[in-house]
Amino acid sequence: MLDATAKAFFHTLAQLQLLKRLASRYGMSEGGFARRFIAGESVDEAVAAVRPIAGKGMLLTLDYLGESVATAEEADAATRAYLRIIETIVRSGNERNISLKLTQLGLDVDRATAVDNLRRILEPASEHGFFVRIDMENSPYTDMTLQIFETLWAQGYRNIGVVLQSMLMRTPADLARVNEIGARVRLVKGAYLEPKTVAFQKKSEVDDAYVRLMKELLDHGNYPAIATHDPAMIAATKAHATEKGYAKDRFEFQMLFGIRRDLQAALVKDGYRVRLYVPFGHQWFPYFMRRLGERPANVAFALKGIFREE
Ligand code: FDA
Repeated sequence: MLDATAKAFFHTLAQLQLLKRLASRYGMSEGGFARRFIAGESVDEAVAAVRPIAGKGMLLTLDYLGESVATAEEADAATRAYLRIIETIVRSGNERNISLKLTQLGLDVDRATAVDNLRRILEPASEHGFFVRIDMENSPYTDMTLQIFETLWAQGYRNIGVVLQSMLMRTPADLARVNEIGARVRLVKGAYLEPKTVAFQKKSEVDDAYVRLMKELLDHGNYPAIATHDPAMIAATKAHATEKGYAKDRFEFQMLFGIRRDLQAALVKDGYRVRLYVPFGHQWFPYFMRRLGERPANVAFALKGIFREE
């Protein structure tokens, strides 16, 4: 994880339309630099890309990229896309697990639109035995996301889970709330640029919080997902599980498609459950920029890709 200044730099870059146009032109072309992180632009491409992963003994969640839609029409289009994706996954025989973002379903338009769209997805998802993870976005959405999650949980949807971010100071209280109802949590460090009023700014503080939350989840959570590529966080998780005598299937590790494939393979070899978060779709630019912001070496990799194509 980079410090807040570097994150801010990439956040600013992500707003530049010229960069977005350039990246969109080259990134997902044959051998394009974004293909390392994005499984394709169509669901068919994604389904084909994940077949070898499932063959290596890893679990999957598919994420149709998109966020911050501004109109009810765009939110409806994203919802319809998810309905088609559910059908395609069922036909493909792939694992039935998807991740989505509430601003993609219209949370910025109004809350009722996002809830209605989420329900439209949850109906067929429940019918076909899917698990639906609601990704966590930046802190202005934390309350709304948790409230919507809890409302749907209270209405009886049990095939849903949330994400909590260790960088946010509020997270211990949120974790207690979610553990209380017995819902499933994916623990992450947090990918967004956040103000110091609500979030830890130093890596050491975010990491310490992550370890505390991980222990709480392993001890009192419902099949938690420990989502990180950080060897120190992974080692702390294994150590805690061993110390407490927890079975390896009490939790799962999660990592992003294309990141630290060495660690993914090593964990599978050691008998741990590993789920890969596999993003696909045309709206890959903001997701891609967050990945660049996490590791400077990725920038060199992306630039090399652009110049190779010129
Ligand atoms: P950290 O950033 O400290 O990195 C540790 C090490 O991992 C690095 O030294 C490097 O080796 C490797 N690494 C990390 N990022 C890399 C990259 N981009 N490229 C190459 N190597 C990299 N966030 C969020 O706010 N809401 C969400 O819903 C989710 N969902 C989510 C799902 C899953 C499955 C994962 C793995 C992550 C998320 N995240 C997320 C992202 C998360 O918050 C965080 O930004 C990244 O996982 C990076 O943090 P690490 O824990 O990997 O540690």
